[in-house]
Amino acid sequence: MIKNICCIGAGYVGGPTMAVIAKQCPEIKVTVVDVNQQRINAWNDADLNNLPVYEPGLADIVQEARGRNLFFSTEVDQAIDQADMIFISVNTPTKTYGIGKGKAADLKYIELCARQIARVAKTDKIIVEKSTLPVRTASAIRDILDNTGNKVKFQILSNPEFLAEGTAISDLLNPDRVLIGGNPETEEGQAAINVLTEIYARWVPENRILTTNVWSSELSKLTANAFLAQRVSSINAMSEICEKTGADIDEVAQAIGLDSRIGSKFLKASVGFGGSCFQKDILNLVYIASSYGLDQVADYWEQVIIMNDYQKSRFANNIITTLYNTISGKKIAFLGWAFKKDTNDTRESAAIYVADYLLNEQAELAVYDPKVSEQQVLTDLNYLNTRSEQENVNLISFNSCPYENCKDAHAIAVLTEWDEFKTYDWQRIYDNMLKPAFVFDGRNILNEKELTKIGFKYQGIGK
Ligand code: NAD
Ligand code: UDX
Repeated sequence: MIKNICCIGAGYVGGPTMAVIAKQCPEIKVTVVDVNQQRINAWNDADLNNLPVYEPGLADIVQEARGRNLFFSTEVDQAIDQADMIFISVNTPTKTYGIGKGKAADLKYIELCARQIARVAKTDKIIVEKSTLPVRTASAIRDILDNTGNKVKFQILSNPEFLAEGTAISDLLNPDRVLIGGNPETEEGQAAINVLTEIYARWVPENRILTTNVWSSELSKLTANAFLAQRVSSINAMSEICEKTGADIDEVAQAIGLDSRIGSKFLKASVGFGGSCFQKDILNLVYIASSYGLDQVADYWEQVIIMNDYQKSRFANNIITTLYNTISGKKIAFLGWAFKKDTNDTRESAAIYVADYLLNEQAELAVYDPKVSEQQVLTDLNYLNTRSEQENVNLISFNSCPYENCKDAHAIAVLTEWDEFKTYDWQRIYDNMLKPAFVFDGRNILNEKELTKIGFKYQGIGK
């Protein structure tokens, strides 16, 4: 029986995942640890609006479980020492240096965790890979644990997380499947699989808990993300053909989606996919394929990223050409900065790259997002290092009122599909804009007929 769980990494995955386990298993003590003191303070903030992750439904669960059996702390050693089961949920970003730079996953945080666990652990433990990892990482973790540890026994499981941001809580409470990779050949290996299965079985039907070998589990996570991203790049590729031919991408998506073999989900044409996972995981897959000499396989998957980059620059380019080939000094209002609705996460958001492109043309941007701060927008742009921080400050303005944000703009660009954008008083927005008033709807969420009737020059994706 598991009494104490420790999760290393209190980010977008560690926080919500452990909150749900704590909610569903009130007799298990769940401690989420992180080296980032600020993040832990935010998880412990009395004001639930200040949690570091925004997800619908998360605050209620944290309120219910925090202080009862859910704890957030920076005492990593202590939490490792007390735990029977340790989830590793740290970040695995794309390498920015050395061999595999720009493609391979940087596993330094994973290795640090393994070494820390080995150093601290004085009793047997089950280690669960929750982070997304290159296939065969478990064998590296095993090597470290076995060679640097205190001779205690470790079982290693792979349990990749499939939640999507914005719907994390409902995905966790009602997952399509839970995947557990382990080693059933040994008695201890089977026992570890059983223990983790029992935790999920509290609320997930057993037929949705799938067990495989460790390598299949690790690779399934990369594969799922590659397939999902590929769908978005495929529909985005078709969106450009629609624009040239008079076909409508939403109609095409509906028509193909009714084929039960294709299915209707994940066929929404957009300004391009973002988020911390798709690009990173596909690049990782491309790197793995190349390192086995599988160049055609690597090229095949890389095309998904190339198409996505093209979609973002195509969107920005279209704004420039439509605004008479110059946007220098023109105000362009962004609605949305997050990489999708219902999250405050901006990692790899298409908005960042579209903004950078437009700023290179000396546009003046005005940004509004219901959940993203001014500081975050500037941090995202400064990170690209395209121009000085002062220039970014000079060229970008912010307004917490969307109507003020759009006032006196030449054009509006919708970058995130926040529901509230659909309910705005678009007549009021139109009245306060420069004419002709353009709307570039990078998410196809606004009502084209209504906006055109008001007088807007509307352009969607694949229309
Ligand atoms: P994140 O950056 O939000 O959180 C990771 C946290 O780990 C950070 O707060 C960091 O300070 C902490 N950390 C790093 N090294 C540490 C160490 N040695 N000790 C203690 N804390 C440490 O990342 P995330 O979005 O939660 O992603 C985590 C993993 O889950 C990644 O591998 C990612 O690919 C995978 N994943 C993410 C999502 C998603 O939607 N974000 C979904 C599925 C899987
Ligand atoms: C993704 C996977 O869906 C999830 O299973 C995995 O655990 C983490 O990576 P996430 O990145 O949080 O989740 O969100 P997702 O809903 O997949 O959207 C990713 C990006 O694709 C967003 O920018 C979204 O706007 C875009 N997208 C998605 C489209 O442009 N069109 C679609 O039809 C679907």
